[in-house]
This record gives sequence, structure tokens and C-alpha cells, in this order.
Amino acid sequence: MNPTETLDTTSEILPGGDTKNDLLWRTSGPESSCSENREHRGKPAPCHRHCDFSSIYSKDLLPNPDGEGPTQRFLQALVHILLAHVSSTFDRTCKVLDFHHPHQLMEGLDGFSLELPDQPENLEQLLVDCRDTLKYGVKTGHPRFFNQLSSGLDVIGMAGEWLTSTANTNMFTFEISPVFILMEDVMLKKMREKVGWSPEEGDGLFCPGGSMSNLYSILLARYKFFPEVKLRGMAAIPKLALFTSEHSHYSIRKAAGVLGMGVENVFLVKCNERCADICRLCKPAVAPQQGLVPFYVSATAGTTVYGAFDPLGDIADVCESHGLWMHVDAAWGGGLLMSKKHAGKLRGIERAASVTWNPHKMMGVPLQCSAILVRQKGLLQECNQLCAEYLFQPDKHYDVTYDTGDKSIQCGRHVDVFKLWLMWKAKGSEGFGSQINCCLENAEYLFNKLENRADFELVFKTKPEHSNVCFWYIPDSLRAAPRGPEWNRKLHEVAPKVKAKMIEEGIVMVGYQPLGEKANFFRCVFSNPATSREDVDLLVDEIARLGHDL
Ligand SMILES: Cc1ncc(COP(=O)(O)O)c(C=O)c1O
Repeated sequence: MNPTETLDTTSEILPGGDTKNDLLWRTSGPESSCSENREHRGKPAPCHRHCDFSSIYSKDLLPNPDGEGPTQRFLQALVHILLAHVSSTFDRTCKVLDFHHPHQLMEGLDGFSLELPDQPENLEQLLVDCRDTLKYGVKTGHPRFFNQLSSGLDVIGMAGEWLTSTANTNMFTFEISPVFILMEDVMLKKMREKVGWSPEEGDGLFCPGGSMSNLYSILLARYKFFPEVKLRGMAAIPKLALFTSEHSHYSIRKAAGVLGMGVENVFLVKCNERCADICRLCKPAVAPQQGLVPFYVSATAGTTVYGAFDPLGDIADVCESHGLWMHVDAAWGGGLLMSKKHAGKLRGIERAASVTWNPHKMMGVPLQCSAILVRQKGLLQECNQLCAEYLFQPDKHYDVTYDTGDKSIQCGRHVDVFKLWLMWKAKGSEGFGSQINCCLENAEYLFNKLENRADFELVFKTKPEHSNVCFWYIPDSLRAAPRGPEWNRKLHEVAPKVKAKMIEEGIVMVGYQPLGEKANFFRCVFSNPATSREDVDLLVDEIARLGHDL
């Protein structure tokens, strides 16, 4: 997009009804009829679109005394761009992405440059930059985006995020976030109830992502058993051993490294077909032999690749009998607690000492939104508090137990709760439940469909527990060939090749990976309520179209 164009898309109607802007936006293929290109065709544009921002600069906006009008017009123009993006996100004639290689983006495209200037640029350029930033990004809310656990574009959640940015406050004290602090309190209580703890039991925090929530769980467990570590450090306590399954998220091992316990001291328990094999968990002899003290087990409720649920009740038995801290990483599976139909898959979670739950995954809340829930009240505060007097003055005139900032390992903390709170109000618990049921129904639909196709093979022959469906595409050339190491080597190359073509075309997006001995396979995950069965059909047809001649 040329930065010298104004943003008025209706001013120049070209033969055939296209606007000048339509042409600038047009790309080849399915995108050509996309709403991004049809913006306001034949309709009067809102008056703010006629504004010329080319001689207006940020200094002309508020707090400039004459800045009210330009500020309003600028923000309206921006909202217009955002709304166009929202519409095109749900428009199946638009691509999921318009792929460019890193060097192409770095070099600059059509007036879109990532370089930072010394002199201020005008607001026209800034609006073009905003539009191009979205244009060259990925529409993670598109009904055909199956690539990541977090997907979807919830309009209410997005409105919540907009409001949060506008409020631009910090979660460390009640003093500056009175409403958000109380909302967080209410929300965490509600989430703990869903876990199965009594309403008055427990504590928690929203923090930046599931990896951080998992790190908190290890930090708390270590403090619980060895409180002296806070002041005297690792030299004052024994060497520790942690246990999790080989299919757990890598953040457990990463946190052990960050916390100075050593990545190697995380023992990865073998899995049976899908989930942690409990028989192998019983306080392995290896830890004491190496002079390590076992103290912590992380069970996974919804593994990242397979979507499997570890046997939480059995793991709780082991933890109780050996006095170990039981954490449940329900970053992905926690959303199922909202569904009456599927919550039973997490039975036993109520016996955990801590739980990670990411509403930004299965519940479709805009990134980021992740909670660490802790069963013992007060532990977060004891473990992390340092009582900085410039923030947490004890003699404030309100109840300072609402100054929750010292529970956190951060100082400043983003407001992550509001968008979830607003979505919960909009849907109710039941609405979230139905949304999750639909995602799991889509997964079952895909599973059933692939079961009946000769050109696909499922990684598991049994129905998915969560919304992950793992499968191989078997091109014609491999279908009749004898199986063996060479066949596997060739199969390993299929998914990356299909994915490369898929990304270039941009119509659909799905992830792949190897796991253990298994050659690269596709992992389709459903967390986007906009996805329909037709989108699932299209995904399967696309993979077959892109891969059949490999
Ligand atoms: C089971 C599990 N735990 C933790 C995480 C990490 O979450 P985040 O990406 O929010 O740090 C993931 C991410 O995929 C996950 O699948």
C-alpha cells in the first residue's frame, strides 16, 4: 500500500465498481472476492474515511488543546481498519494469511517499512502501517486456522482487550486498579470452584501464559517444602527431583532450569499409548540414588500434541502417599471444566495443590489470559512478597489485602482478567460449555472422516479425548509401497512439504510435528467456535490436493 494514498476508499470508483483501494488490496486467488477488497463497495463510507491525515501528526492529538477532533477522527479511522480486519477474519473468501518470507518483510513491501525513522511520520502513514501490519499478519481467528491451541476472534473478548488498553492500568495495587483487582478475585474464585475446591479455599493470579503459570507451581512447591530457599538460595537446600511425563509441555523443564534446579533433574515418566504411565511414577529409585529429593509432580490435563489426560486420581494417590506436591498443567484441558459433558475427563484435579489453566486456549479468550490456581491460601504471598514500601504501604486507608501485587514475581502486571470476565458475562458458564462441546464435536467429525479415507491414517485408532486429531497423509506413491524405515523416512517428509505449499497458498493452516519414533504427522486442534464442518472438509481436501503427487 502506497503511503501517499489517502484512506478514502470511495473517492475514486473505477470501471467495474472497483475502488482504487480495491485494486491495491487485491491479490491473486481466493482473496480476490474477499471482504478486505470489497470494503464499502457501492455504499457511502462513513465521513471519517474522507479525512486526510497526511498533514496531521501525533503532536496534534490529545493532550494538544486542539486535539479532541483529530484524536476522534484518527481513532475512528483506526477502528474502521480494525473492523475491516474483523470482517475479513470471518470471511471464508479471504485467505488465512498472505505469506512473505522474513527477508521480504524486512526489505519492505509496497510502502510498508519496518525501519524506524528519526523524524515523525504523519498519521496517514501510521494508519497505512496499522492496516499493513494486519494485512501481512496471520488471521488466527479465521475458521480455517487450525495451527495453534489458541485461535478464534471473540468479539466480546476483543472489546474487553480494547477497553483494557484504554484503561492502561497496572494490577499491582487496588489503589490504581480497584475494579480489575476485584474482578480478578471474583474470577479466580469461580475458576477454583470449577476445579472443585471449596469457594473460600485457595488463591491465584493471572500471569503471562501457561509457561509462567507452570513456573509458579514449581516455585511454590519448592517454597512449601524448603522455605529457607527464599532467603538463602539453592545452596541451603537439598538437590531436588521433579517428575512429569515425556509428553508434558517443555515449560516444566524450562522452569526447572530457570529456578536453578537443573533441566536434567526433571524426570520424564514414560507414557503408555497416550498419557503418563502411572506404574512408572512411583517415586523412582533413581532420584534418591543420585542424591536428589523428589518433591514435585506435574500431571498434564490435555497434552500439547495428543490432547491426552494423565490419570489424575492415580497420580494424586502417589503424591499423597509420598508427600509430593501435585500440580496439574491444565493449560489446554482446563477449558473442559466448563463443559458438563467433558469435565469428568479432569476428575482428580480437585486433589492438586496447584493448577495451570489458560483461558486463552480452549476458551477462546484473546491472548494473554492464563491463571495459576493454588490450593493453599497465603502461600503465593509468603513465597514472593518483599514489601516494597513505595507500592505496598501497610498504612493505606483501605483493606491492603487487596494490594495483590506482592504475590507476583512481576512488579507491573497487565490486566488479563477483564476480557475473560466480559466474555463470561456474555456467554455464561453454559455458553462456554456449549462452545467447547462444539469444538470437540468438530474433532470427532474429523476423526470419523479420516477413519474412512484410504489416503489418511490416524495416529490413534480410538476417539480423541480432547480436540486434538493427529494423522498422517499418505500420498499415492507411498500407499502401496512396503512399510519399513525407508517408507517412514519418506513419510516424514510429507507433512513439511504439504505445509510449505499450504502456507504459500494461505487458504488453510494446520501444524505438524514428529513425536518419539513417529514420523512427522499433522495435529489439527479445534478451539475456534467459528469453524464449521465445511471448514474441516476443506482442510482434508486441501491436504490431499497439495500432497497427492508427492
Ligand atoms: C499443556 C501446556 N502447558 C503449557 C503451555 C504453555 O502455555 P503458554 O504458551 O501460554 O506459555 C502449553 C502451550 O501450548 C501447553 O500445551
